[in-house]
Amino acid sequence: MCGIMGYIGTEKASPIISRGLKNLEYRGYDSVGVAMLSAISGSLEIRKGVGKIDEVQNQLKFDELDGNIGIGHTRWATHGTVSRENSHPHTDCAGKIAIIHNGIIENNIELKEMLLRKGHRFSGETDSEVIAHLIEDRMNSGEIGPVGFVDPAESVESVGSVESVGSVESVESVESVGSVESVGSVESVGSVESVGSVESVGSVESVGSVESVESVESVESVESVESVESVESVGSTGFGSCFEDACRWAFGQLRGSYAVLAMVEGADEIVAVRKDSPLVLGQADHGTFFASDVSPFLEWTKDVIYLQNHDFVVAEKGSLRICNLIDGEVDRPVDTVEWSVEEARKGNFEHFMLKEIFEQAETIQKAIQQDREVVDRIVQMIQEGFGVFFVACGSSYHACMTGSYLMSKIAGVHVNVVLASEFENYEHFLTDRTLVFAVSQSGETADVLDAVKAAKRQGSKIVSITNVMGSSLSREGDELLMMNSGPEICVLSTKTYTSQVIMMELLACALAGVEEDCARRVKELYMDVHNLTSKNMRESLKKLADLLVGKDHIYMIGRGLQYTTAMEAALKVKEVSYIHTEAFAGGELKHGPLALIGEGTPLFVFVSQENEDRIVSNAQEVKARGGYVIGVSDWDNPVFDYWIKVPDCGNLNPVIQAIPLQILAYELAVVLGLDPDKPRNLAKSVTVL
Ligand code: F6R
Repeated sequence: MCGIMGYIGTEKASPIISRGLKNLEYRGYDSVGVAMLSAISGSLEIRKGVGKIDEVQNQLKFDELDGNIGIGHTRWATHGTVSRENSHPHTDCAGKIAIIHNGIIENNIELKEMLLRKGHRFSGETDSEVIAHLIEDRMNSGEIGPVGFVDPAESVESVGSVESVGSVESVESVESVGSVESVGSVESVGSVESVGSVESVGSVESVGSVESVESVESVESVESVESVESVESVGSTGFGSCFEDACRWAFGQLRGSYAVLAMVEGADEIVAVRKDSPLVLGQADHGTFFASDVSPFLEWTKDVIYLQNHDFVVAEKGSLRICNLIDGEVDRPVDTVEWSVEEARKGNFEHFMLKEIFEQAETIQKAIQQDREVVDRIVQMIQEGFGVFFVACGSSYHACMTGSYLMSKIAGVHVNVVLASEFENYEHFLTDRTLVFAVSQSGETADVLDAVKAAKRQGSKIVSITNVMGSSLSREGDELLMMNSGPEICVLSTKTYTSQVIMMELLACALAGVEEDCARRVKELYMDVHNLTSKNMRESLKKLADLLVGKDHIYMIGRGLQYTTAMEAALKVKEVSYIHTEAFAGGELKHGPLALIGEGTPLFVFVSQENEDRIVSNAQEVKARGGYVIGVSDWDNPVFDYWIKVPDCGNLNPVIQAIPLQILAYELAVVLGLDPDKPRNLAKSVTVL
């Protein structure tokens, strides 16, 4: 639920990181921080504070930091309150190592206890801080093997400068070492071609051959030196940073989910790892980008590497190495992102939410464009399977609910719809013949990924539906359908919700063998959706927002497809306006909720030609108790106090009727002076269980 960003290359890193963080702010926005390796002093500088990125940036001037290597983080608090101490980057005791983390370290308490016993001092309450101390602990432990990925038998070409090396067992050959302040003990060194200067060496057991050493201040003991050409008082060599090995070890201690970027003073590198939290790499001519998704680096490069679980990355200027901590050597392909920079920008819109609502005439057309062969294979899987589950959270869950009505109405197929966070309770129903549709805009929702894991444990087949190529979910399924909505930056789902509904309609129609009809109806929807985003509609919804502003509660009802639409509409209004809004099935009102209705209580009624009589009589029951009735329908009924006019589009009503409510939710936030793109306490990608 946090956003992470890193850059190493030849460009100044700080403006890249702060612009990138702005694009990631939707993932978390209670505090923000950056760490830069100064090109001038070589030291690590950290600036961080509480607030949204613009506020903190104005105050702390991230862009002033020099250097070409940096990392940045935008936080959504999980462990520890919102405070400067708890914001990232976190450092070790010495302030030489900086890390940023997205995810949850489940064993942080035991790790912290162990580190405290060893004398480490913590400055905040987060689970993440243990990572910096673990790396430090390992670096100080003297148990580190040779540098980074270099196996004992391999060779090191050049080492810049090293402050201290604990102990090294064996190095075959080193071509050149800049300067080393102190080396604890070295058991054996094959050959060293040149060493700049070494201040102090504890003990060296054996050195093969050293061609030249500029200066060595003091050496405690050297047991054997085979050949040294021009050394006055025998030097030795140090090695590059033991940072990579320490990181590798430290990451191995972590349980939970994590995308981590780490840097250390004195080493021109960023070390990273990912497990169950998103991390992608961007590759440009001038450098390497790390980010939680592609949007922060789209303006510099569209070449992206999607990392997989346990991938361990070391990026230096001009080089990038990736291995997998479980599988060893791996070759990760470079893909090209199709999203454009413009799509990821607000353009002339005041907020992403409005831009994304207005994009829907186009995005629903893109949602219907699915690979026919994939759809046919999925249809076959449904027909041959035994039991179908739709699993999702939030708005995606509402789209699934809508999907289950569509499957039933259009294809006569029963589908179980389960909230992903509740799915474990159904695991015992799963078999290798069960088909599970996992639906998630971000493709990173932890609850959904957890459900997918449970389904896989039982051998069930998975169909993934997501909007983010390269996301965890996009790699998990037996079949994949992409929503094709383009980046959705606003925390609230709008265009991805309607795309999901369209895809559900497509699947139901394909099952019933009437997909041509579906394609035609979706095409016809273009103008209807376009008209809903007209100036007049917005003006009318603004007026309605003004009427609703002082209300503490809003209720919504519908039946069938209009019920699931009411559920989605209620979620939109409550999450962005903070007004309590709840949806009920029209028939349920009399079983309890009617008690909530009093003088002036607003009630939205979603009406379709199919169920108008019954739902209108439900509205009348409310009106009779003083309720203020707002109708969403294609005709004005006398029971309505306010009418939102929408065309009746039959099975596509869940799209048509949701859009005015999205606009209303937006207008409510604006009238209330709230930021519609970043509602309080929420994050776009919910990567915690
Ligand atoms: C509501 C909203 C959330 C998400 C939910 C699932 O506007 O955006 O309720 O729908 O967090 O997210 P995804 O679809 O990314 O799994």
